[in-house]
Amino acid sequence: MLVHIKNIVENARKGGYAAGAFNITNFESILGVAQAAVKANSPAIIQVSESAIKYMGLKPITHIVSTVAKNTAAPAPIALHLDHGTSFDAVFECISSGFTSVHIDASSLPLDENINLTKQVVKVAHARKVWVQGEVGAIKGGHGDIRGKIENIPLASVEDVIRFVRETKVDTIAAAVGTAHGVYSNEEIVFSLLKAIRKAVKIPFVLHGSSGVSNSQIKKAIKEGVNIINAGSDLKIAFCQTLIKVCLKNKTETDPRNLLKPTIGAVEKTVIEKMKLFGSAGRIARYV
Ligand code: G3H
Ligand code: ZN
Repeated sequence: MLVHIKNIVENARKGGYAAGAFNITNFESILGVAQAAVKANSPAIIQVSESAIKYMGLKPITHIVSTVAKNTAAPAPIALHLDHGTSFDAVFECISSGFTSVHIDASSLPLDENINLTKQVVKVAHARKVWVQGEVGAIKGGHGDIRGKIENIPLASVEDVIRFVRETKVDTIAAAVGTAHGVYSNEEIVFSLLKAIRKAVKIPFVLHGSSGVSNSQIKKAIKEGVNIINAGSDLKIAFCQTLIKVCLKNKTETDPRNLLKPTIGAVEKTVIEKMKLFGSAGRIARYV
């Protein structure tokens, strides 16, 4: 079923677990996430980046996700969210299309400019009852990157996060705490920083860049109160590795569905593992 992200996040807070926000790239990955939510009895946030919108089109994505949520995933709460929106216009289009949550990522701008742009988004979003995620301390890396190590992972300043949240009135906050987008061997959550942010700022914390972070660190982050965890690269990797394997084995196949169907299962399997890790699996029965 299609729900407002607020329902999913408030239940995650009450239950002491994290809801997964899964980046989709195409129809097959939308189906993979939806099927995983049903099989794992878990809520799920389906999130789209600007590049996913460029690939599929905003209207098609909005309609496909909402139809899949209402049908394939009828028993499971699903919310639609914009991930890393970089401009007021891009975010506004998603708000107007029916997203219940948008991320305005102006974290690469100086803090004052980040605050100003985020405030403008909050004003229009809240007037339409849409949640806004803000970001402080740009999170580095590349979605789908598997390059080994990443240099100089930036960290957010606690004072900047406090000022940003107070002035912008965002609903959820993402901040650089040692993770990166992609899979790198040197991603380490700085727990002293995460704890300090969690202590100072009471809105839900969004952990970006979870691919490449060890399961033990993810579990510890949830214990520290992280309620939304973004996962993208691991889904892309599962999709592509499966597709490459199937194509190599079936070089004369002429029906695209026979090549693509296993990719749905691969995304589903990856997402179910994450739902179990995040603690959201099995929560539907108690969902209100
Ligand atoms: O915004 C998307 C996420 O932060 C994805 O990060 O590709 O490392 O899983 P990831
Ligand atoms: Zn991210």
